[in-house]
Amino acid sequence: MEQLNFKEKVVFVTGAASGIGYAQANAFLKQGANVYAIDVQEKPLQELKYENPTNFHYTVCSVTNKADVDIVVQRSLNLYGQIDVLLNTAGILDDYKKTLETDEPLWDLIMDTNLKGMYYVTNAVLPHMLKRKKGVIVNMASIAGLVAGGGGAAYTASKHAIIGYTKQLDYDYCRDGVRANAIAPGAIQTPMNKKDFEGEGVMAKWVAEETPVGRWAQPDEVANLTLFLASDAADYIHGSVIPIDGGWTMK
Ligand code: NAI
Repeated sequence: MEQLNFKEKVVFVTGAASGIGYAQANAFLKQGANVYAIDVQEKPLQELKYENPTNFHYTVCSVTNKADVDIVVQRSLNLYGQIDVLLNTAGILDDYKKTLETDEPLWDLIMDTNLKGMYYVTNAVLPHMLKRKKGVIVNMASIAGLVAGGGGAAYTASKHAIIGYTKQLDYDYCRDGVRANAIAPGAIQTPMNKKDFEGEGVMAKWVAEETPVGRWAQPDEVANLTLFLASDAADYIHGSVIPIDGGWTMK
């Protein structure tokens, strides 16, 4: 599809060293985009094997540090002159802790990373999109943003909040050329859930069994949905939450 060509487009992605963010970075690079990626991990790039390293920049930066986020977004703008697509993907799990098991530092860590970090990055990028009257934002929610059981108290609260934030974001700016949507993945096999696959992989098998389609998905499947959502083909999709969960939320 011609619309999935991202040549000369600039994509800013958070959480790009691993899992879904890594797959997104690769998918957009394959479609010809310039990608500016950030992550807290200091993994050397050559180990990451991004598809087209000439169009790719990577900076170690935490989404929880507003000053650093502002600097890196500005650096990306200085380098490429624009940001067409923002992918807010960085996120962490809370080990499925119930509220009484969630101490305040854990609550703050999850909220600061998953939610406040998204707000920092969005507010750094949005003014430039508004100036050009053009931009697409794709926020990473989860099935835990729609139903219980996909995380603990803090994670589930953060992902529900991301969905509300995304709707309000689109509502407030859709007439100014900015389009925001959220993705709600189910069981995606990434380093985030590598514990589930350890040993006999009992947990991983249970999750697959509980998923109507009977399997986990790979991060590329989420990246492909992201390509579509970020493309002009999805121009009428606004403030939506798109599940990619093997049927988990249809039960
Ligand atoms: P992952 O753990 O493989 O990747 C997450 C990346 O975010 C890591 O590279 C990590 O270093 C980075 N990160 C963490 N804190 C950061 C910070 N403060 N600043 C910048 N980067 C930071 O996990 P995965 O699975 O790729 O998750 C990506 C997103 O997808 C997360 O928001 C997660 O909640 C969401 N998700 C994942 C699902 C899954 O089954 N894997 C299901 C539903 C949602």
